[in-house]
Amino acid sequence: MNLLRTKAASPNAFCDTGLKRCLDAFDLTFMGIGAIIGTGIFVLTGIAAAEYSGPAVVVSFILAGLASTFAALAYAELAASVGGSGSAYGYSYAAFGEIIAWMVGWDLILEYAVSVAAVANGWSGYFENALTAIGLGLPALLTKAPSAGGLINLPATLIILMLMILLIIGVRESARVNVVMVFVKLLTITVFIAVAGFNVHPDNWTPFIPFGWFEHGTNDRPIGILAGASIVFFAYVGFDAVSTAVEEARNPQRDVPIGIIASLVICTIIYIVVSGLLTGIVSYTKLNVSSPVAYSLQLLGYNWASALVATGVITGLTTVMLVLYYALTRIIFAMSRDGLLSTKLATVHPKTQTPVRIIIGAGIAISLIAGLVPLGELAELVNIGTLAAFVLVCLGVIVLRMRQPDLPRPFKNPFGYTLPILGIISCGALMAFLPVITWLRFIVWLAIGMVIYFAYSYQHSHLAPASRS
Ligand code: ALA
Repeated sequence: MNLLRTKAASPNAFCDTGLKRCLDAFDLTFMGIGAIIGTGIFVLTGIAAAEYSGPAVVVSFILAGLASTFAALAYAELAASVGGSGSAYGYSYAAFGEIIAWMVGWDLILEYAVSVAAVANGWSGYFENALTAIGLGLPALLTKAPSAGGLINLPATLIILMLMILLIIGVRESARVNVVMVFVKLLTITVFIAVAGFNVHPDNWTPFIPFGWFEHGTNDRPIGILAGASIVFFAYVGFDAVSTAVEEARNPQRDVPIGIIASLVICTIIYIVVSGLLTGIVSYTKLNVSSPVAYSLQLLGYNWASALVATGVITGLTTVMLVLYYALTRIIFAMSRDGLLSTKLATVHPKTQTPVRIIIGAGIAISLIAGLVPLGELAELVNIGTLAAFVLVCLGVIVLRMRQPDLPRPFKNPFGYTLPILGIISCGALMAFLPVITWLRFIVWLAIGMVIYFAYSYQHSHLAPASRS
């Protein structure tokens, strides 16, 4: 079974799959930045500073960035050697076999679908603020989910449907739109850094560690720098989306590792600078608001810069949704091609060369979730799901090196097993600092996945029967 899968996805099998090969290292790096910088830095930094880490939120960002870097290096090695658009799902198939692969794929569906819906909710809040500012505010019934006292969060639903159309039109077109929006996002961050750089009051950095490293707050909730790192980890979610573009990259073995590592390094540097400046210009106690970056500029009296940042956030969150939605469709594509989900889904439209059925199905599902469910706490689910996938990808590097030492590895982690082992430890530790309720929800999701596997996927798998006979 394992050999079968690895053969199917070996470097020589980077063959024509029907998807269009049109992305280069630049597109892939921008795809990574598109998916990475969003709610994490623009929203969660404030909550993390005010409630978990204080000014030491910068240390939380460094720790989460370090864990992500180990995982990114593991992704880069497997993307270049195993390949396939299934990302961690495909690598797990090669390393561990079908049932673990299914669970990882199921876990990735949760990661991407919930992230997109959660980010759509954040996007809708900013968009509604902008509409209100120009006197075109929507009635409250149309901006809230039913359980929050509304009818539907219409902007959240509509933005997903618009992205759906863009993704159907084509991956090249989507990548172009993404590049433009990422430029706007980077410009916004540059404006913030330029203004904040001249307004730092070092007093704001003391006390630097007001909540300790790992303590328990009200209701026994974990707080401190380490719990803060588990929260801001959300800011790094998305670099793994680059690995789902292997079948659409022109030179995947070279460009995908470049895209993954370059985007992560650029974003880590940006996060350290922005979080350091943010807690330097205002007291961390004032940052527990929905738009801390824009709000801090307002507090300094720079209203024009604050408005510009808010516009940049709207654009920035759009790219996050676009790339994560794209990644979700490619994971489902890989799983249906292998028969674990209906093969009817794995068809590519002859004209647009995109998996139209999956894009439409996923788009409708996400738009309904985004419109009807307020997603606050579910975002923590994204972190635990992503970290679990990262642990398995790091473990996959080790297992595959043992099982298939001769597999060509155009990109290989240096220092033997050291970096993947550090990845397993650091991502595992970040999982441990998440609340118990998040663990319970995650276990329920995996249990549902198990039921679907034995009820459907086990019988319909294309690859496993050969190994079972
Ligand atoms: N990393 C992405 C964000 O922060 C998911 O929005």
